[in-house]
Amino acid sequence: MNCFNTDKRIKLGIWGLGRGSSFIESAKALNIDVVAGCDYNAHMRDRFKKTCPDALVTADEDEFLAADFDAVLVATWFPAHAKDCIKAMNAGKHVMCEVTSFFTPAEGVQLVEAVERTGKVYHLLENYPFMKVNQYAKKLWSQGIFGDFAYAEYDYNHDCRSLSFTYIDGVPVMPGYEAHNWRSWLHSHYYNTHSLGPVMQITGLRPEQVTAFHITPSLPGFLKTPGNGRMAPSLIQMSNGGVVRNLIGSSTCDTHSKRIWGTRAYLDFTGNCYVRIGSSGHGRILNVKPEWPELGELADSAGHGGGDFWELYYFAREILTGEKGPWDVYSSCDVTLVGIMAARSSLAGGIPQRIPDFRKAEDRDKFRNDNDVANLTDPKRIFPEGHDQRITEKFATVMSKFSNYSGDMGMILLRNARDGMKLYKELAGDADRYAVIEDVRLLIKALPELAENCREAKTILDAYPDCLAATAIRSSLELCDCEWVMDTDNAIAELKAWLADA
Ligand SMILES: NC(=O)c1ccc[n+]([C@@H]2O[C@H](COP(=O)([O-])OP(=O)(O)OC[C@H]3O[C@@H](n4cnc5c(N)ncnc54)[C@H](O)[C@@H]3O)[C@@H](O)[C@H]2O)c1
Repeated sequence: MNCFNTDKRIKLGIWGLGRGSSFIESAKALNIDVVAGCDYNAHMRDRFKKTCPDALVTADEDEFLAADFDAVLVATWFPAHAKDCIKAMNAGKHVMCEVTSFFTPAEGVQLVEAVERTGKVYHLLENYPFMKVNQYAKKLWSQGIFGDFAYAEYDYNHDCRSLSFTYIDGVPVMPGYEAHNWRSWLHSHYYNTHSLGPVMQITGLRPEQVTAFHITPSLPGFLKTPGNGRMAPSLIQMSNGGVVRNLIGSSTCDTHSKRIWGTRAYLDFTGNCYVRIGSSGHGRILNVKPEWPELGELADSAGHGGGDFWELYYFAREILTGEKGPWDVYSSCDVTLVGIMAARSSLAGGIPQRIPDFRKAEDRDKFRNDNDVANLTDPKRIFPEGHDQRITEKFATVMSKFSNYSGDMGMILLRNARDGMKLYKELAGDADRYAVIEDVRLLIKALPELAENCREAKTILDAYPDCLAATAIRSSLELCDCEWVMDTDNAIAELKAWLADA
C-alpha cells in the first residue's frame, strides 16, 4: 500500500534503538526505508539487526550521521534530545524527535534557531493526540458544538518504577551500580506531553502560564530525589483563558482521564465515549463511536492506540508533499516548556510561571542562557565514592526484581496478595475473591526467590546505608515485609493456612 501517491522514498536512520525500534513496522507503509541504526547498547543493536539485517548498525554517532540517509528518528536519552537533534540537522538530516524536545529553555532557543537556520523538517513524536479517541475528539471539537474551551482534566499517570533500573526491554541497567540514565530521577513534571499534548491539539490553544504545588510523598522503591516517583498535578492557563488540569507522574493508580468542558457541551472519552449536549450540566448524554479518519487498518496495528503510526505519517507527509504536520518546532517548544515551568512552579511554592513563546525574539533572548534543571541528579553516583563494586553491581538487578512490572513477582505480587487477604472478607464478588486466592498461590511459589532478593538487597543496604541507592532499597524492603518474607517457611505455612480457610 502506498499512502502518498508518490514513488519517492525516505531513507531513515534510527538513533536510540529502544523506543526507536518500535517504529520499524509502521515505516514500511509510509515510503520509509530504515537504513541505519545507532545505539551504545550491544543488546539493542542485536535486536535491531534481526529486524533490519541490511541496515548499517553502529554504536558511533558520527559514523551513523555520516551515512547516506535523509532523516533521523531521535530516541536517545531524554535530556539529550535537543543536542542530538541539532547535531543531526547540522549533518543535513530532517529530524523527528521523541518527547520532550529539550531539557532547558536555553536548549529550546538553540533548537528553534537550528531549525530556522537549516530549513530541515522538525517534528516532535508526541503520539497521544493521534490515538483514535483523541483524533476523534479533535474532529468533534472542530464541528463547533462545544463552544469555547473552559476546562479539561487529562492524565498520564503511569507507574514506571521498574524502568528506573532497567532499559525499556526489561534488561537491568549496566553497570549494575548505576540507575537508569534519566528515568530514575527526572522530575515528574518534565514528562508532561502525553496529557497536555492532546488538549493542545484538540482545542488548537496555546499554554500561557502554569502553576503547581509540590507533592511531598513519593512511592517506595524509587530513588528519593526531590521530584521523581510521585504525582505531579499542574494547572495550565490556555490562550483563551480556559484551564487544563494536567496530572502526570507515578501513583498507586494509573489513570488516563480524558475530559473536556466547553461552554456548550462536555466530552468524556476516559472509558465509554460520550458527550453531554444541551449546554447544561444536566443536558442530554449521547454515546459516540470513535472512528479513524482514514488508513485505520494501518494505524490499528501500531503502538499507543495507533498514535505511533500517525506521527510517522505526518513526518513522511511533510517531507514528501510539503504539507505541515501538527507538531512543528514552535508548538513542540510550547508543550515542552510547560513541563519545565511546572517543575519550577512546584519548587517555588506554586508561584505561576509564564510560558515563553519562542516564536518571539524577545522571549528567546530572555531565556537564551537559562540552563537551570529541576532535580538534577547523577545516576552514576548513587553509591559513595570508592564503593565495592562486587557488592553494588547487583543493585540494578535486585531493584528490577522488586519492581517487576507484570506483578507476577516482587513487591506488586507481595502487596496484591497480603493486602488482598486483608480485604478478602469485604469483597463484593467471586471474581475478586478468586483473584486474591490466585495471588496468594502465586506468592507461595515466588516467596523463596523474593526472600533471596531481600537478602541480596540487605547486603547492599548494610554495606552502604546512607546513600541515594539506599533510599530505594530500604523503602522496597519495607514494602516487601522483608522480615516476614525471609522467615520463608513460616510465611508459606501462614499463606497455606489462609488458603485452606478461604
Ligand atoms: N512517546 C512515547 O510513547 C514514548 C515511549 C517510551 C519512550 N519515549 C521516549 O523515547 C526516548 C527513549 O526512551 P527509551 O524508552 O528507548 O529508553 P532509554 O532512554 O533507555 O533509551 C535510549 C537509548 O538510546 C541510546 N543512546 C543514547 N544516547 C546515545 C548516543 N549518543 N549514541 C548511541 N546511542 C545512544 C541508549 O543506549 C539507549 O538504548 C525517551 O526520551 C523517552 O522520552 C517515548
